[in-house]
Amino acid sequence: MHFTVEAQNKIRSHIESVRTPLPIVAFDGTAGNGFDTCFLAELVGKEGHVVAMDLQREAIHITRNKLEALGRADRVDCICDCHSHALRYLQPHCSNGLHIAMFNLGYLPLGNKEIITKRETTLAALAAVHGLIVEKGILSVLSYPGHAGGSDEHAAVEAWIEQVQRHSRIESYRDESNRLSPVLWLVFT
Ligand SMILES: C[S@@+](CC[C@H](N)C(=O)[O-])C[C@H]1O[C@@H](n2cnc3c(N)ncnc32)[C@H](O)[C@@H]1O
Repeated sequence: MHFTVEAQNKIRSHIESVRTPLPIVAFDGTAGNGFDTCFLAELVGKEGHVVAMDLQREAIHITRNKLEALGRADRVDCICDCHSHALRYLQPHCSNGLHIAMFNLGYLPLGNKEIITKRETTLAALAAVHGLIVEKGILSVLSYPGHAGGSDEHAAVEAWIEQVQRHSRIESYRDESNRLSPVLWLVFT
């Protein structure tokens, strides 16, 4: 299973089924190589808006270049900062709430594998962003237990999902034959 594609497909079909009348606002907590940000920029349409964050300048540069090549840079704020500060960048766009949030955790593929998402800041970002999501919105988290430092964060995210599951429907996807499989969680608010 290609988890990043799966996340995008699930989000697209959910948003199309909800058919929100309001401009769609989306958040990408880990812009990385820009694939999810570009996906969101297309999905929100010309009235919508995306806020994309990454800790690394390199990732923001790559993402911005991809958006410019697509002609979609005008509907995206690309922010180089830790996603635990997400509220400060999202609030100006979220008077009607946030509709979609994506977190693809871990490190930048082809980049520095020592710069990884970390338990404390990931949990802070998830809690803050989840609190902004409207009814019938969606949040995806793709978590990787297999790299150094990944299992600690993965366990914390799993525990957070268990809490959220008390009041939201969750879908999860993993490769059952692989103990260290990435896990995709979808939270339907
Ligand atoms: C797996 S990559 C994201 C892939 C991306 N969604 C894409 O479509 O290409 C994870 C990214 O998280 C970023 N990251 C790590 N810690 C972060 C933090 N505290 N805040 C924001 N981004 C962070 C890394 O720099 C890396 O680019």
